Amino acid sequence: MTIPLVIDTDTAQDDCVAILAGLLTPEADLRAITMVAGNVGFDRQVKNAFMTFNVADKQVPMYLGSRLPLVRPWASAENVHGDGAGGLDMDFTGYSPETEHAVDALLRLAEEAEGELNIVAIGPLTNIALAVRKRPEFASQVKHLVVMGGSNNARGNITAAAEFNFYVDPEAAKIVFDAGFRITVVPWAPLTLQQAVFGRDVLERIAAIDTPLARFFTSVCSATLAFDESVGIPGTTHPDSLSVAVLLRPELITRSAEYNVDIETGSELTRGYAAMSWGVHGLAPNATVIEEIDAAGFQKYLLDMLSLSTTPPREFRTAG
Ligand code: BDR
Ligand code: CA
Repeated sequence: MTIPLVIDTDTAQDDCVAILAGLLTPEADLRAITMVAGNVGFDRQVKNAFMTFNVADKQVPMYLGSRLPLVRPWASAENVHGDGAGGLDMDFTGYSPETEHAVDALLRLAEEAEGELNIVAIGPLTNIALAVRKRPEFASQVKHLVVMGGSNNARGNITAAAEFNFYVDPEAAKIVFDAGFRITVVPWAPLTLQQAVFGRDVLERIAAIDTPLARFFTSVCSATLAFDESVGIPGTTHPDSLSVAVLLRPELITRSAEYNVDIETGSELTRGYAAMSWGVHGLAPNATVIEEIDAAGFQKYLLDMLSLSTTPPREFRTAG
């Protein structure tokens, strides 16, 4: 039996790998991707997603969502990701997104799936929050929402307190955690930093695979590797592909717990901080937070995927 899902993405670096996982994992029935403002320029994100379809030689409908956070100006992560694809480009003639807005598509796809749709949200939560605002029952129509965001009583990345996705649109994140979804959280720290970083040894093994998918991976992860090493992270980070993996291969989760998750929207100092309360403060749980994974199993899952042979219809070129 396949797992119906939509990936809501700000496509750059590991978002590309996450989309590949949705396209190429046999258990996945990826019905669409929806684009949200986040990592890099919105139109660049769209190109990155089309290049991901190209390397997989597989496409699903792409719906464009919010180009801005709910109430704040956009904050970019271009200092981390560059263009999000390591300078790759291609001829985009003939590639175009659907005309329906992402929020309407999410609402429609949830209804059509009759309670079976899963969403993996790997960017700021603007589109998901707008869908809740448009139709509050949306939360109960979605089977499972996997959210990449926040840190579990640990450091942020864009500030000491906040992880990027929640920092960009904290109001949206708050709406989503209050909406009544069944949520699983893949946090930045400590989980991603401890268990989903690929060091140079792993990256060399990936380079040696030498398939179009492996070469694409190396390219899209290149800018982030340079940034990560400059801030003391020993490799590339994979929270977004991990978020897809835990939905499709839940056996990769080795420890999780129920938490109450709430998002800071009032303070500038701690904007987007996720307060993850682990059950001793008398707060009702609203999310399952993943605390530990089978890191070797996750690495094998991605390396096996990158070993698949695909025939990209368009040639990639490196932007000058
Ligand atoms: C998150 O922000 C982005 O830079 C990554 O794609 C990931 O979704 C990590 O903070
Ligand atoms: Ca992302």
